[in-house]
Amino acid sequence: MKILFIGDIVGKGGRKAVTELAVKLRQEFGCGLVVANGENMAGGGGINGKCIRAITPAPMVDVITGGDHFWDRKEFLAEAGDFPQVLRPANMSPLQPGKGYGIFTAVGGEEVGVVCLQGRTFLNNQADSPFAAADKIVSEIRHRTSLIIVDFHAEATSEKLALGRYLDGRVSAVLGTHTHVPTADEQVFPGGTAYQTDVGMVGARESILGREIEPVVQKFATGMPARFNVVEKGIRMNATLLEAESATGKAISIKRIVRDL
Ligand SMILES: [Fe+2]
Ligand SMILES: [Fe+2]
Repeated sequence: MKILFIGDIVGKGGRKAVTELAVKLRQEFGCGLVVANGENMAGGGGINGKCIRAITPAPMVDVITGGDHFWDRKEFLAEAGDFPQVLRPANMSPLQPGKGYGIFTAVGGEEVGVVCLQGRTFLNNQADSPFAAADKIVSEIRHRTSLIIVDFHAEATSEKLALGRYLDGRVSAVLGTHTHVPTADEQVFPGGTAYQTDVGMVGARESILGREIEPVVQKFATGMPARFNVVEKGIRMNATLLEAESATGKAISIKRIVRDL
């Protein structure tokens, strides 16, 4: 079966691009499931019910994953329980609301496990080991299905590669998110796990990671505080198309997809 994974959706422009392109891509490639990272959907940081409702009417996006900005919007705390298709990083405190993995039914009836994990290297957070969390979650999901997609939301390329190799043969794909820049290292590992260090973003081409260029340049140049507004136009969508065998969960192919709006 084919699965489309969409990189970090940034702000209103990113959401608009997803509403215009997700269904088209799904039909073009015949995807059974569409997963998107949504940690920057609301104003560039965080997620909320309004944004989730905008991109989840079928057959648009089936599952939304999170990351270090998942709880940036206070209003989302009260709504978090309303959206079973939205995953926060699984390797955070169990006292957090929400959940970090789930089994979802694709078009055609196959079940697909989707897992959201967050890295620890160069990310200032309180995440537990993503490796230990992956062991536990993957062994649990594999009782139901071998098709398992892991969104590894992390900064360090080395940590992402390490988790990809660690899970090779146990999941269909380990796809990185968070850096907003797609990497050209997509491959299927020997054990049958598709891997890409970062899928990229749905955000403005003329930007720095989706934000206005000048304030970011000034911040780095001077060290002075600056406000980073989201750029809402000239959007590029980075996504990755996976194909995996339904019976074994093994990846057949992985391909980068780029669409400009
Ligand atoms: Fe992030
Ligand atoms: Fe992000």
